[in-house]
Amino acid sequence: MTKLRLAIVGAGPAGIYAADILLKAERKFDVSIDLFEQLPAPYGLVRYGVAPDHPRIKGIITALREVLDRGDIRLFGNVRFGEDITLEDLKRHYNAVIFATGAVRDAGLDIPGIDAIGSYGAADFVSWFDGHPDVPREWPLDAESVAVIGNGNVALDVSRMLAKHAEDLLSTEVPDNVYVGLQASAVTDVHVFGRRGPAQVKFTPLELRELGELRDVDMVVYDEDFDYDDASKAAIASNKQVMVIDRVLQSWRKRPSINNAGGEASRRLHLHFYAKPLGVVAGDDGRVAGFRWERTRPDGEGGVVGTGEIREVPIQAIYRAVGYFGSPLPGVPFDKRHGVIPNHEGQALRKDSNDRVPGVYATGWIKRGPVGLIGHTKSDAMETVRHIINDQGSWWQPIDPSEDAIPALLESRGVRWTDLTGWHRLDEHEIGLGSPHGRARIKVVPRHEMIDVSRGE
Ligand SMILES: Cc1cc2nc3c(=O)[nH]c(=O)nc-3n(C[C@H](O)[C@H](O)[C@H](O)COP(=O)(O)OP(=O)(O)OC[C@H]3O[C@@H](n4cnc5c(N)ncnc54)[C@H](O)[C@@H]3O)c2cc1C
Ligand SMILES: NC(=O)c1ccc[n+]([C@@H]2O[C@H](COP(=O)([O-])OP(=O)(O)OC[C@H]3O[C@@H](n4cnc5c(N)ncnc54)[C@H](OP(=O)(O)O)[C@@H]3O)[C@@H](O)[C@H]2O)c1
Repeated sequence: MTKLRLAIVGAGPAGIYAADILLKAERKFDVSIDLFEQLPAPYGLVRYGVAPDHPRIKGIITALREVLDRGDIRLFGNVRFGEDITLEDLKRHYNAVIFATGAVRDAGLDIPGIDAIGSYGAADFVSWFDGHPDVPREWPLDAESVAVIGNGNVALDVSRMLAKHAEDLLSTEVPDNVYVGLQASAVTDVHVFGRRGPAQVKFTPLELRELGELRDVDMVVYDEDFDYDDASKAAIASNKQVMVIDRVLQSWRKRPSINNAGGEASRRLHLHFYAKPLGVVAGDDGRVAGFRWERTRPDGEGGVVGTGEIREVPIQAIYRAVGYFGSPLPGVPFDKRHGVIPNHEGQALRKDSNDRVPGVYATGWIKRGPVGLIGHTKSDAMETVRHIINDQGSWWQPIDPSEDAIPALLESRGVRWTDLTGWHRLDEHEIGLGSPHGRARIKVVPRHEMIDVSRGE
């Protein structure tokens, strides 16, 4: 029987779902799958993006682990495509490759002062609080007033983690250094800025409502933001999600806060709408000193126009949460504008001619862009896998499809790769670290330590 030797690069949800779907699909050939992951741990943003105080979502890992544990997928952790293994290597040993490398860095925000000291990307902060091995262990949290730019769920995650008292994270898998860092935080006010109105936000009701439940944090909203235009009224009337968001915000207008007196919390989380970023004001020392924005107003069609009214708030740190962005992969076409592999339903296309690139596929955020929930990567994977199955005639013909070739190649290059058994070892080690403290796990953060534990060295 014909065999498909498939490489999948990226062990986030998109890569793991693709493997699962292909192994379960009706097909006329055998399949063997090798999954390459640059980190010594699988699960992508589920482990290194989803906030530690969202254990229910982290629980998706249980389903992903079941896929890996079934025994028919080989995991090669700590192997970076483009450095440890190349497209030429994959062509020599496989019939096809799916790239599921996600989007792991921050999109830019092109405003003056954005490079000031104390200006951060949300993705870096998220990586820090989720214990990503490749970011510094220390995070400066000496600012009393902080701005967060963006009205998506990442902006809310970042704002919540900044405003939340560290003690309220203790029951979670928050890494020790993060707990200690957050405990020392000087923050009193977190200001979130959206350039459009409450009816045009990208965040979801559950995540918004959660902010109002934070202990010792007052929610502050401003009456001027609720003078809705007809398009906003129509959105609230016709879309249940927008309706709930409006209801939650309206309930906060009636709460005591520092604005309408009576607020007693030691921290405040302010939501500002109709605020288009103009610039970060830096002091003589090059540090963030303020955030300047232009008040906008609705344009009647869901967009906004500037009013010419400029405002400024003193802050000492700013986080841009204006979206993530994909990274190019050596030898693989890349659409610089959208940060994705150009593709037709997951089949990679050449950038200039739009011709198909045989054997090369994409799924997840590197296929579709950095939008959507974990569940969306499943439907993504279905579409991509269907093409792989139908494209049998254009698969690569590998010179050496033997199972032993890849471990031998990695050994010869001195790559300290980790496998599924190693991941189990690290997983159990982390759970063991957490259990005496009544915690689900305590993550191992330094990469070398993750590898040592995995390899039993
Ligand atoms: C901060 C944040 C919080 C989120 N919270 C939620 C939530 O609560 N609920 C929800 O449903 N969705 C949430 N999402 C969305 C969800 O994380 C994504 O939909 C999903 O992770 C995308 O899956 P992916 O596999 O395409 O990418 P990723 O999860 O990013 O996985 C990509 C994998 O590829 C690896 N990789 C990258 N480059 C290489 C390379 N060169 N070589 C080898 N490996 C490589 C990466 O290390 C990573 O493991 C969140 C997103 C973010 C950013
Ligand atoms: N708990 C969860 O379920 C959870 C948690 C985190 C992430 N996620 C998901 O992960 C995906 C990515 O989330 P995300 O928050 O990174 O992206 P997002 O949902 O696309 O939100 C990006 C935000 O940034 C704003 N923005 C973009 N460019 C801007 C600019 N130049 N100036 C000012 N504002 C700007 C956008 O405003 P406009 O709308 O005006 O463009 C939008 O409010 C989403 O699908 C999200 O739902 C889910």
